[in-house]
Amino acid sequence: MSAPNIETIVSLSKRRGFVFPASEIYGGLGSSWDYGSLGVELANNIKNAWWRWLVHERDDIEGLDSSIIQNRLVWKYSGHETTFSDPLVDCRACKGRFRQDKLQDVKCPNEPSVCAGSGKECDLTEAREFNLMFRTTIGAVAAEDDESALAYLRPETAQGIFINFKNVLDTSRRKLPFGIAQIGKSFRNEVTPGNFIFRTREFEQMEMEYFCRPEDAPRLHQEMIDGFQEWFQSLGISGNNLKLYEQTKEELAHYAERTVDILYRYFPEREDEDKQWDELMGIANRTNFDLRTHSKKPEIDGKRINSDSTEDLSYFDEATKERFYPYVIEPAAGVNRLLLAILMDAYTEKTNDKGETRVILKLKPELAPIKVAVLPLAKNKPEIVSLAKQIKKDLQPAMRAVYDDTGGIGKLYARQDEIGTPFCITVDHESLEDNAVTVRDRDTWAQERVKVSELKEHLQKRLQK
Ligand code: GAP
Repeated sequence: MSAPNIETIVSLSKRRGFVFPASEIYGGLGSSWDYGSLGVELANNIKNAWWRWLVHERDDIEGLDSSIIQNRLVWKYSGHETTFSDPLVDCRACKGRFRQDKLQDVKCPNEPSVCAGSGKECDLTEAREFNLMFRTTIGAVAAEDDESALAYLRPETAQGIFINFKNVLDTSRRKLPFGIAQIGKSFRNEVTPGNFIFRTREFEQMEMEYFCRPEDAPRLHQEMIDGFQEWFQSLGISGNNLKLYEQTKEELAHYAERTVDILYRYFPEREDEDKQWDELMGIANRTNFDLRTHSKKPEIDGKRINSDSTEDLSYFDEATKERFYPYVIEPAAGVNRLLLAILMDAYTEKTNDKGETRVILKLKPELAPIKVAVLPLAKNKPEIVSLAKQIKKDLQPAMRAVYDDTGGIGKLYARQDEIGTPFCITVDHESLEDNAVTVRDRDTWAQERVKVSELKEHLQKRLQK
């Protein structure tokens, strides 16, 4: 089972402290969200899993953390200043503003509705291009529109990688193929954000640029597509809720030769199966576009197209004595979209023997915000409380543990199940006699007695599954 719709996750997130609406006490700020104590742990665990899998476990990828605000020229030569836009239309009837290419998905925002779904005609303006980059100014400027101080918040982390290609190459002494990975915030002034954390104006990306010889690019691209599908499933996402989408020639970004998206079933409630899916990540073959465009002497028809860069970002292959611009395979995923997919896929309901329905978040232990909750059966018994607190303290260096005595044991179990904590430890009167505690499994609700002296090892073994 997985969540029946995104709304179920919105309410669980608010109720339990994963995600809150941003600026809520001032009426909110359209499609901005804050991550609460559990949300930030889950996001960190997702990012750590990605980083460990790519940067630590493979031997061919370096990490990077580049600036959000770069020289404006980065966005001139990357093409974002001229092409990173959506076609925008206004409706004269309802005053709504929409992306022309997503008209079939929108609902008219104002009543009385005259647009999609009402059967009446919309009165749309001609489309005009709207650039999605957030603008800002650098330093103390006299006027907000001072072009000489203009800068952008990055709309993708990727460009920070391309402009550092030579720095990383020179300092790491890498040879092709190798990759550079980066996790960080990106910003897009989306025309129609929405669906909770699915499309927002501020979001986090996990991107990797894998540099290779041009002839190796198609094979490495396919390996990356297969690898990411497997990785998502290793995080607990069901293969039934993932599928591939091959972008058409018309959909491809200006830099891409081939892009395959991995889609997740974010909208299982929709009758039309085709409309249940949306993009979780994109995996592109970006050719050598970026390294060429940021280089001081690209040889496009013999014409120098970049007169501002001070570097040539080509690569010299010692073995073949060739100089060329490497191709790039780019797997680009959103932290927030993956977090949403993971929450949706982990969501299950189970009925207890009293006929009550309980929510269980069957998160992979690696991703669970809390690994173990230590619960005293009698919070008015100082010896029990003190033993429970000591157990929590002893476990903490090895795993994220919490102590909780804020309710009866049934309520405490239910809360931990709902936030995905794999194990609860109950300390009771008997524990004072036999130095053992009850370990309760989140998914099966099975309980077993374990010696306190063996507890850490016991839990570590089970958490690795
Ligand atoms: N460097 C390539 C690139 O940025 P993209 O397909 O535009 O490609 C990559 O973005 C991923 O970033 C998407 O698959 C999605 O997971 C995430 N993403 C993009 N725009 C987003 C938004 N407005 N809100 C949340 N996530 C977004």
